[in-house]
Amino acid sequence: MTKAAPILALDKVSKIFGRADNPLYAARDVSFALHPGRTLAMVGESGSGKTTAARLIMREYTPDAGQLLFRGAPLGKADSKALKAYRSSVQMVFQDPFSSLNPAHTIHYHLDRPLRLHQRKLSHAQRHAAVEELLTRVKLDPAQLMGKFPHELSGGQRQRISIARALAVNPQVIVADEPTSMLDVSVRLGILNLLNDMKRQLGLALLYITHDIATARYVAEDIMVMYAGQIVEWGDMEAVLGDPQHPYTRLLLSAVPDPDRRFSEAGEELNQIETIRRQSALPQPEIRQIAENHFIRPMP
Ligand SMILES: Nc1ncnc2c1ncn2[C@@H]1O[C@H](COP(=O)(O)OP(=O)(O)OP(=O)(O)O)[C@@H](O)[C@H]1O
Ligand SMILES: [Mg+2]
Repeated sequence: MTKAAPILALDKVSKIFGRADNPLYAARDVSFALHPGRTLAMVGESGSGKTTAARLIMREYTPDAGQLLFRGAPLGKADSKALKAYRSSVQMVFQDPFSSLNPAHTIHYHLDRPLRLHQRKLSHAQRHAAVEELLTRVKLDPAQLMGKFPHELSGGQRQRISIARALAVNPQVIVADEPTSMLDVSVRLGILNLLNDMKRQLGLALLYITHDIATARYVAEDIMVMYAGQIVEWGDMEAVLGDPQHPYTRLLLSAVPDPDRRFSEAGEELNQIETIRRQSALPQPEIRQIAENHFIRPMP
């Protein structure tokens, strides 16, 4: 399937924390693109730099190197008009549905507010109808929920409100950082299906951030594997999962160690794992193409 031109792209973006003599690369040379109607999954263990990438996209951090491109144009600091368009086009759904809603305000308030700010031409009645439509879109009953407060809702319902709030400004890109990891297992699939519906019905470009490969596979066409701030392997979901080439990806995909193995074997394997992790954390500037849409950064 041919892809439409990317809406948003990161071009060799780096973000460095820590002191100059001991820099921590939370993002190192990170490049990827988001396309309309497609989901890209960013998969990596805790501390690999996933939220840092999300914050760079949300402009909470400015890159220390590299740039963001919005519809092909570099997103500079100066042009406030382009930045305003960017801010409403790119919306975020957070991990924690409990802290992302204000306990003092009703559900109606949470959805009416972005409409007031971003769609100023709407009348009061039109906004009310729009709030109803948003709730229906995320499969919640407007009559039942509009006047309620966040604490009266379940985690799954709250996450649906977060998604509705993101949709209120007609975004083109949604960044979802572990949107189901704090939810009850029984409601996770519903949220993932909702994200899939949004992608298909609204042609949204989605960045789905997770440590969980199974959910990544469920929602995304493309995957990138993140480790120590670098994307070590990326491409078509089935190509990467079916034929992982980077030692770290293989490690991430490998099964839980067999408890019946001899201790010496297990010890040797732990040493190998340690070596892979250490080497995968080194800068890996080279890019090698494996298949049409399958790439790795080989270990040095
Ligand atoms: N504001 C900050 N100041 C200093 N170091 C930071 C900051 N934010 C993140 N880091 C460090 O950058 C690295 C990447 O962190 P990040 O939060 O992006 O990882 P993550 O993949 O989102 O992890 P998790 O799965 O636990 O959410 C970590 O080593 C982290 O300690
Ligand atoms: Mg995170």
